[in-house]
Amino acid sequence: MLDTYWSKYDNRVNRLVSKGCKLVGCGSAVPHLQISNDDLARIVDTSDEWISARTGIRNRRILSGNESLTGLAAEAAQKALEMADVEPDDVDLILLCTSTPEDLFGGAPQIQKALGCKGNPLAFDVTAACSGFVLGLISASCYIRGGGYKNVLVIGADSLSRYVDWTDRGTCILFGDAAGAVLVQACDSEEDGLFGFDLHSDGDSNRHLHAGINKKETNHELGTNGSALGFPPNHSSFSCIKMNGTEVFRFAVSVVPQTIEASLAKAGLDRSDIDWLLLHQANQRIIDGVATRLEVPKDRVITNLANYGNTSAASIPLALDEAVRSGKVKQGQTIAAAGFGAGLTWGSAILRWG
Ligand code: ACO
Repeated sequence: MLDTYWSKYDNRVNRLVSKGCKLVGCGSAVPHLQISNDDLARIVDTSDEWISARTGIRNRRILSGNESLTGLAAEAAQKALEMADVEPDDVDLILLCTSTPEDLFGGAPQIQKALGCKGNPLAFDVTAACSGFVLGLISASCYIRGGGYKNVLVIGADSLSRYVDWTDRGTCILFGDAAGAVLVQACDSEEDGLFGFDLHSDGDSNRHLHAGINKKETNHELGTNGSALGFPPNHSSFSCIKMNGTEVFRFAVSVVPQTIEASLAKAGLDRSDIDWLLLHQANQRIIDGVATRLEVPKDRVITNLANYGNTSAASIPLALDEAVRSGKVKQGQTIAAAGFGAGLTWGSAILRWG
């Protein structure tokens, strides 16, 4: 047993060899329940006209019944493995990028279990809201380049519908649930498909977008003696998403072009080298604004938020998967991907598909 354990993982440590990494598979999964703008207009004071004009969103998918985020994430990951022709046993790292895990301690090990990966590969969560997938992608490349890992699953999965205030028309119209995944694989440095990246955070601007901890006033299970001491602590939960939409909008159209320019510079590439612009799908006006600033023509911009809304960490791999499977994105093409959102966090990567 121990022999098998070591034979698989022994020479990983200290293997700081120059390695490349490339994206070789993708997959996605969305819930069955579709909620249209008209459906929302029945519960809050809004309209299809307002939502589609201000955001570009027409529908979103919401988890219901027995569906789970873990189930969606595992389905997306399974499809990515199939496309890459990689067996679950050959996966040696799973990064679940999510801000809405179904276990406080992290959901990634449950994906490992669902996929049936033997040999207990490392699986853990990456939490960075709508920037989570880009962060996970860069983390995967670091594990491959510096750590000797070979097959890394990066999954973006979120169910923000569970943290939305469904009476707040300023936020509830925006979000949907989904999962998307890519398989990042080690390759020779000449084949490297991650050309440059740039990542940031700004905790000072957290006030513009957050879902902080909620402390209950009292803990009814305890007598007054405990509360007088301020111990034990009360049970905690998270508040609904609170957002200053105007500030987040301004932030996005300002930092996203900057981070993409920074990644391009690090990659030694130019705007004209971008085949596809793939931004976090938050608002069509943000996507259009960034594309205009970067002078990327509309037919080079990947967008699917009309159907799914803002699916947080899932939005980039979900849109990538649709674009790859429809034949839009082709082997060898260069993609400029950027995420932005709560934290605040933002970042970009210039990568090659396949
Ligand atoms: N339906 C109808 N009217 C509405 C709605 C609605 N759903 N929501 C707001 N309004 C009203 C407001 O009350 C306001 O009315 P008033 O002028 O009488 O006061 C008016 O519409 C304009 O409101 P604004 O908030 O200024 O509208 P704006 O054009 O900024 O659009 C929106 C709001 C869509 C939220 C936009 O600001 C936005 O998309 N911001 C970015 C959000 C985002 O991208 N978040 C991504 C990160 S998410 C994450 O990381 C988890």
